[in-house]
Amino acid sequence: MAELDWSNLAFKYRKTDKIIVSVYKDGVWSAPVASEDFNFSFSAFAGVFHYANSCFEGLKAFRGVDGKVRLFRPDENAKRMQSSGRHLDMAVPSEEMFIEMCMMCVRENIDYLPPYGYNAAMYLRPVLIGMNPQLGIASSTEVVFAVLGAPVGTYSGAASLSAGTAVLARNYDRAAPNGTGAFKIAANYATSLHPYNMAHRQGYRELLFLDPATHTKIDEFGSSNFLAIKGNTYVTPLSSSVLPSITNKSLQVVAEDFGLKVEKRAVYVDELAEFDEINACGTAVVITPIASIDDKPTLESTEVTRQFVISKNGLAGEMSTKMYNHYRAIQDGLEQDIHGWCYFLD
Ligand code: PLP
Ligand code: COI
Repeated sequence: MAELDWSNLAFKYRKTDKIIVSVYKDGVWSAPVASEDFNFSFSAFAGVFHYANSCFEGLKAFRGVDGKVRLFRPDENAKRMQSSGRHLDMAVPSEEMFIEMCMMCVRENIDYLPPYGYNAAMYLRPVLIGMNPQLGIASSTEVVFAVLGAPVGTYSGAASLSAGTAVLARNYDRAAPNGTGAFKIAANYATSLHPYNMAHRQGYRELLFLDPATHTKIDEFGSSNFLAIKGNTYVTPLSSSVLPSITNKSLQVVAEDFGLKVEKRAVYVDELAEFDEINACGTAVVITPIASIDDKPTLESTEVTRQFVISKNGLAGEMSTKMYNHYRAIQDGLEQDIHGWCYFLD
């Protein structure tokens, strides 16, 4: 077992033992290998460096209370990577190959899989990268698929369920109408870096993007989906420019299991004042409560025109806490996995 401070991992790069790599060339994927070499060697003309021919995934593996190792819904990540890769017109791994390489990554780095009880996991980062040299704008014909792993704790580094503040992205969009927001492609994150950095420098934990066509509706946070609780209803935006989050999809089922009504619909900015609880949700952030959301004319502006205060005490709401505990308990093997979400490492 690696000697790490398992309680304070936060979410950052930490080297493990191996990465799992397969290369697509001449119409076939090579047999996956576990490699100690963490460096890729491609031509400087590779499409990834010029045209962002790249997409990725994020999922977690947990060491359960029963000692078993669970990967949470890797089949869903496999399907989403196929959807992202196909949008880039690149070769994509099959679902079986994707899952097997995720399993290999955990197996080969098992010393870095956090022990049970530290609220930590191994984050798996599958990446699909276009590597053949090219000059004109074109999809890559030679592709690397690799699964990387890193032990992680909470995304913000703060305790779980500690609320953060957010600001609306009035004058920046992460995606275009009819663009790529629904795909997990590297380019979407490049677009968000500048406004994200600005929001962070101003002390906000999250940046909340609006629908790029009208800027009247909520889309999602830079790192995660938006979910709100209003009375007995779970509300989440229905938008073509939002990433289809596997956490959100799963939490909708948990909410229904708890007897909540689930509404996937347009969520107007003005409605922020009416929600009882607001959270960011995603693999990295899990459920992160949002205490308040500032609205400013521009991100650069120092003037706050409206402040939506959701949590006065900086704590997660009652229903969000209940959902969080249940969701994490499924991943840790404490709660029965009635929907068959966990894949076990053999
Ligand atoms: N939205 C964005 C922009 C993300 O980067 C992520 C993280 O993957 C999510 C939403 C949440 O998706 P998931 O729950 O599948 O991790
Ligand atoms: C994830 O939650 O898996 C993501 O990719 C989001 C990123 C902020 C780490």
